[in-house]
Amino acid sequence: MKKKWGFLTVCLLLTTVVLAACGQNNNNSGAASSADTGSGNASTAPASTDTGASGGTLIVGMSADFPPYEFHIKGSDGNDQIVGFDVDIANEIAKDMNKTVEIKDMQFSSLLNELSSGRVDLVISGLSPTKERAEQVDLSNVYYKAEQAVVVQSDDKDKYATMESLEGKAIGVQTGSIQEEVAKGIKGAKLTSLGKISDIVMQLKSGRVDAAIIEGPVADSYVKNVQGLAITAAKPVTEDDGYVIGVKKGNTDLLNQVNATLDRLQQANMIDQFVTKANELADQQSQ
Ligand code: ARG
Repeated sequence: MKKKWGFLTVCLLLTTVVLAACGQNNNNSGAASSADTGSGNASTAPASTDTGASGGTLIVGMSADFPPYEFHIKGSDGNDQIVGFDVDIANEIAKDMNKTVEIKDMQFSSLLNELSSGRVDLVISGLSPTKERAEQVDLSNVYYKAEQAVVVQSDDKDKYATMESLEGKAIGVQTGSIQEEVAKGIKGAKLTSLGKISDIVMQLKSGRVDAAIIEGPVADSYVKNVQGLAITAAKPVTEDDGYVIGVKKGNTDLLNQVNATLDRLQQANMIDQFVTKANELADQQSQ
């Protein structure tokens, strides 16, 4: 059961390389086929020419390095797929709108700009609500909550058991994330900000950073599936522990639709079921 994510890590790295090579606005064709709404005929037109909510496709931006929220797996047909509970939520919103989902996998730090410029209709990516983000885009109601975690090499688990113990250390975080802000607040910390969490995990494994600050459920998933990592007792504190969906500023109809679907899912306890299923999928991933 060791290093189950060897293959996945390679896939993620390849995706990152491909995205970097092609520019972040390009569609990831693997991602486009990942929606499990069945039709499989996601739009191939550039999203920028799509009028957004008016077509048959709901374009959802996410950074698919974030199990159990959104991550790559090798599907039963051998093809790369993006799955996770954010993907399930995206499919439910699309279903309520009679649309199919097209996923665009990109760097987390690009997502809100893509939304503002209309190249994606929604951002569903483990997005935490902040004041700055609420100024840039509209944010849905909270659909899930989780805490933050500090991930280190297993041998360092006790050494970094408090936030103070991270002072002056090399810390890996995702570019543009709230974790980056947390790390900036640690005295003397040397930040390594990277586009994809899989890259941060590589840096941690190779000892180029001492610790990484990652969402609790995501940290759990990486620690379970990548050998030699552990979560410490240190508890990073953030402004808000909830997750929301981003909609282009002023797109009230879509925002209302998103909130209506979230209400429906919450009432039927479906989000918890999606989380359980996503965790199982992440754990099942084999080399
Ligand atoms: N919750 C954090 C934030 O909103 C990190 C989210 C990262 N999401 C991802 N799919 N990598 O800043």
